[in-house]
Parts: sequence; structure tokens; C-alpha cells
Amino acid sequence: MQAIPGSSGPRWSVDDVAYDQIDRAAIVDQLDWFYVVTASSFVEILSDLYARNLGDYYAGDEDACAWLAHKWGPEEIQHGEALKRYVQTVWPDFDWQRGFDGFQADYTPYCQTALLGPTRTLEMAARCVVETGTASFYAMLRDASPEPVLATVAGHIRDDEIGHYKGFYRFYRDYQRRDPHSRWRVTREIWRRVVEVDSEDAFLAVKNVSVVHKPGAVFTREDFRAFRDRIRAWMRVHYPFQSAVKMLLKPLDLPGPLQRFAIPLIVGGVRRIV
Ligand SMILES: [Fe+2]
Ligand SMILES: [Fe+2]
Repeated sequence: MQAIPGSSGPRWSVDDVAYDQIDRAAIVDQLDWFYVVTASSFVEILSDLYARNLGDYYAGDEDACAWLAHKWGPEEIQHGEALKRYVQTVWPDFDWQRGFDGFQADYTPYCQTALLGPTRTLEMAARCVVETGTASFYAMLRDASPEPVLATVAGHIRDDEIGHYKGFYRFYRDYQRRDPHSRWRVTREIWRRVVEVDSEDAFLAVKNVSVVHKPGAVFTREDFRAFRDRIRAWMRVHYPFQSAVKMLLKPLDLPGPLQRFAIPLIVGGVRRIV
């Protein structure tokens, strides 16, 4: 197998980030940003659990396991650490650990090897969907951020997520060569994961931020929907729809003319849905 792109250690470190230069006044009162950054730090920092799950699922595939353990997992955890430190710098009164402990307890039961894709090939395609989602999300945060240091952190994370996509895509191609799956089957798996992207982890992460931030208040699905609608307003302006759709379609290996026809059509549809 060829070398995985970007497999030569992290390109940046939490210690490079200028936390002492944060323009606190630009963000400290923006509650939605507090919730988004804190919830993201919870999800990312739990990555050693996802990395273990994936490592179990791909047991015996030495290349994939080495990349997951030494490149992908540590980078995802670093995303969590960088965001956590941002939260603790800007909102020092928030008990980050208590929020995270609640999230970990709520979310761990959803995180099982049994819930991964039906085949190794399809799980690699599904991982491309997840990394498309995270790369696009952090591109949006980078461009929408009211505070420059957060924009820099989000930019570093976005670049890593693109690297993860490329890594999983390379493994996917390799599995497809050895164990081919029809375009239809891959489409169904990609669709299933696109629909799932909005599932439990985001709700539980935001809920556990709220539990600590507003003691005694109950965080409902309705509260979460209202929060999500406000984030959609950012998406309309800053979400990179075009590149997200291109990345999603890439594993389908569509013929060039069909791809040129499909991309603007899907981008238009997705924009309308958002
Ligand atoms: Fe990440
Ligand atoms: Fe990632």
C-alpha cells in the first residue's frame, strides 16, 4: 500500500496556539459560541474511544491500525485539547471536567464496534462522510469566528480533518480494489451516514454543556432544535457546500460528466434544505 498522505506526525501543536493573545471581549458574551466550542471539545477529546473501536474493527490490517493509532487518534485528541484550553481561557468559571464527565457517561453506550459499517470497505466510505462533516464544520467556524485565535485553531483543525478524509479515502480505495462494492451499495451507506451525522453525539454534548452552565434547568430536544436553527444561520453564510458535496461524491467514482451535472444540483438542494 502507498504511504498515507500526511502520515508524518502532527503539523501543529496546542503549544503553538497564542492563547495569551485571545481577544476575549470579542467572544466572551456570545453564548452560542461558548456552546459550540465546548460541545466540540467534548466530542473530539473522546476520540481515544472511537480510535479503540475502529482499531478493534480493523484488527489485522496493520497499515490501517498504525495510522489510526499514531496519526488519526492523536490528532483528534489534540483537537479536543486545543478547544478545551480555549474554553478554559475564555470561560474559566465553567467546570469543563464536570460537563465532559456527563457527556462521556451519556455517550459511551452509543459508541460500540457493533454499530460500525457492515463491511470494512463500507466503513471506510462512512469515515469519509464523517471527516467531510468535520472538515466542513471547522471551515465554517474558521470563517464565522468573531475571534482571531479561535479562527486559527479552527483552521488548523479543518486542515487536519481534510488530511483524515484523504487517509480514509486512500484506505477505502484499497479495500474497494480487494473487495469491490457496487456504486449503489456505497451510495446507500454514504446516505445512511449523512442522515446520521446529526445524531446523538451533538445533542448529548450540547446538553451536558447546558447541565453545568444552567444548573437545575432541563435541556430538552426543543432547546436543541432552537440551538441548531441558530447554527444553521451561520451555515447559510459560511458552510462550504460545494467542497462538502464534492468530497461526499468522491468515493462513488462517478463518470466526469455525471459528476459535473450532479454537484451543482445537489449543492442547490442542500442549500435549500439548510
Ligand atoms: Fe477532529
Ligand atoms: Fe477527523
